[in-house]
Amino acid sequence: MKRTVIICLVGILAAVCCMPGNDLEKKVADTLSRMTLEEKVAITHAQSKFSSAGVPRLGIPELWHTDGPHGIRPEVLWDEWSQAGWTNDSCTAYPCLENLAATWDRELSSLYGKSIGEEARYRKKDILLGPGVNMGRTPLNGRTFEYMGEDPYLAAQMVIPYVKGVQSNGVAACVKHFAVNNQEVRRTRTSSNVDDRTMYEIYLPAFKAAVQEGGAWAIMGSYNLWNDQFNCHNERLLKDILKGEWGFDGVVVSDWGGCRDDDEAAANGLDIEMGTWTDPNLEIEGSSNHYNLYHLANPYLERLRDGRASEEELNEKARRVLRTMYRTSMSPERHFGSFTSPEHFAAARKIAAEGIVLLKNEGALPLQVPEGGRILLVGENAYKMMTVGGGSSSLKTKHEIIPLDGLREAFEGKAEVVWERGYVGDTSTDYNLVVTGQDLSESRSREQLIADAVAAAREADCVIFIGGLNKSKHQDKEGYDRLDIVLPYGQDALIEALADVCPQLIVVNISGSPVAMPWNDRVNAIVQSWYGGSESGRALADVLTGAVNPSGKLPFTVPFAMADGPLKTERQYPGIKEEGKTWWQEYYDEGVFIGYRWYSSKCIPVQYPFGYGLSYTSFDLSGAKLSAASVKAGKAVTATVTLTNTGALPGAEVVQLYVNDMESSVERPARELKGFEKVFLEPGASRKISFTVKPEDLSFFDADAHAWKLEPGEFHILIGTSSEDLPIDLPLKVR
Ligand code: BGC
Repeated sequence: MKRTVIICLVGILAAVCCMPGNDLEKKVADTLSRMTLEEKVAITHAQSKFSSAGVPRLGIPELWHTDGPHGIRPEVLWDEWSQAGWTNDSCTAYPCLENLAATWDRELSSLYGKSIGEEARYRKKDILLGPGVNMGRTPLNGRTFEYMGEDPYLAAQMVIPYVKGVQSNGVAACVKHFAVNNQEVRRTRTSSNVDDRTMYEIYLPAFKAAVQEGGAWAIMGSYNLWNDQFNCHNERLLKDILKGEWGFDGVVVSDWGGCRDDDEAAANGLDIEMGTWTDPNLEIEGSSNHYNLYHLANPYLERLRDGRASEEELNEKARRVLRTMYRTSMSPERHFGSFTSPEHFAAARKIAAEGIVLLKNEGALPLQVPEGGRILLVGENAYKMMTVGGGSSSLKTKHEIIPLDGLREAFEGKAEVVWERGYVGDTSTDYNLVVTGQDLSESRSREQLIADAVAAAREADCVIFIGGLNKSKHQDKEGYDRLDIVLPYGQDALIEALADVCPQLIVVNISGSPVAMPWNDRVNAIVQSWYGGSESGRALADVLTGAVNPSGKLPFTVPFAMADGPLKTERQYPGIKEEGKTWWQEYYDEGVFIGYRWYSSKCIPVQYPFGYGLSYTSFDLSGAKLSAASVKAGKAVTATVTLTNTGALPGAEVVQLYVNDMESSVERPARELKGFEKVFLEPGASRKISFTVKPEDLSFFDADAHAWKLEPGEFHILIGTSSEDLPIDLPLKVR
């Protein structure tokens, strides 16, 4: 008898543990039925800077949220952004998401998600505040480095494995910032006014993919407004689109302090309000229970008690929070995670290296340095640590290998690696009390710095300039847009001065967004590198020495100048103040024409196109064909092409497929990315690649019908290795 009871109990436990969808819903319903009104309200808002409440009476733990997309933020004080001073919370810093996007490698995105999720788990976090998939509408956006490029298909393909990887650890990925949060200027005071076609074709697909294909458990509402309603409680965005059309069953979390209105917060689809000390109107400073004053706290309770807010709506929020808890903090299947393991640093190094983009190479790379020779690095970014700074993605990492050290390690015993600063950029070395420990003070004048760099260049066998941006104010930082795409701190002049004396000059630009390169023709090699995290210097050395054959591709266009881009007026960017309107107004008049969609459609030349990147080997595409030259609307076709490594080194190429609609009732871009495959090949080897072109790949969003529309007519399927290098053109007739 006793044995039977034990077996039964074990059986019940096992059933609960395995908990497929239905059981999860039963648990949620059961738990909800046991909760008081006050307990339900309590789980819908913050109780500290990074946690929201559980239900202590029922033994339900709180939810712990953490930044961010690139590593697990250090522990902070209960109510403050400042780090708490723990000594065991220095994480693995992963490359910035633009670096990840530049790999064009779905498997690496999965590895990234899995690894960062393991770190979150180890640190007992339930919701990871990332990844970010806002589109690169302007290169000036201060958070470009935190996002995945300018193309919705690329971002969608890269976000799916990231989300799945994170969530395989029982940690929710909170995809942000939903939506049309494409600038930092007045980010909490600007209405992004965007039409439906542009939303559905450009700004929503990556979020939709994260939800429907990645299965994201959380979404973060953005600070801005869409069409005049704040996005943390934007009814259309959250209720109609996210939860309605896409069937999202997870939680909507507000950005920190992004919730702005009591009634809308209660009614429009927000589930957890986060943020502290953020609303000046609340006058909460110093009060002991200020979380109770938040929109979804006491004001919500009052509304529920006097009938202004519906209890069904509250139950819906609570259900979503509980579902998230059962998936994360109360999931019996979670492991303990791992933190700063050798595997994590190896993953960070691999991703960083695979995303580095070789833009130009006139034989200067891979480096050829005579035995015992001297390599000179010029530029602050060869030395400055970059994981500290930039805003909420700032990290405290266990180690950060700077380029100088990465190259010294690579050339140990073979060549001397020396450094000249060349210019002074940002001398700060701390953020939220996290310090890098570097001393970046400088007493030399600008002229002296250039003179010293030039003199050292004359004595070197090889000169590599390593500069760019640095995550300080206006230089790739949350809260501040860039002011131009021109390199700051007089770097252009310094590069020109070096070019005057160097027979061969290599330029490495470290940034998270595009920079102008007026010296392009005067240098022998150009490398686009990124904020690569803990292993950034080693990853850069891997590519420069040829230990890793570069295979990164630009996730954005590098224009010649800002003026060439699609944003021409103040009403487009950064927005205007209009009579009678409380908030700044910004109009996405360029519609779907952002990034390469703009440049290629208007035939505007660019410095380097979207999708571009060189290798130390060479590739050839041949034998391309379509399964049918003419199809009935609604049917898919298959495009096949053979890629051959025609060079002498193993390497990878990203084969890209774009579509071009020749006859359309609406204006469509000259090309739209609809497929890509990254293929690694040994020298001489070939691989046949096939792409399925589905009807939706050929369609546009018809706003009047609120549906995707495929119009019969002539299309071109373009295949190649960048948005501007598409030698294969396969005509397709849709009947
Ligand atoms: C940022 C979010 C971040 C949050 C918490 C906000 O200011 O916009 O991306 O996750 O702070 O740090």
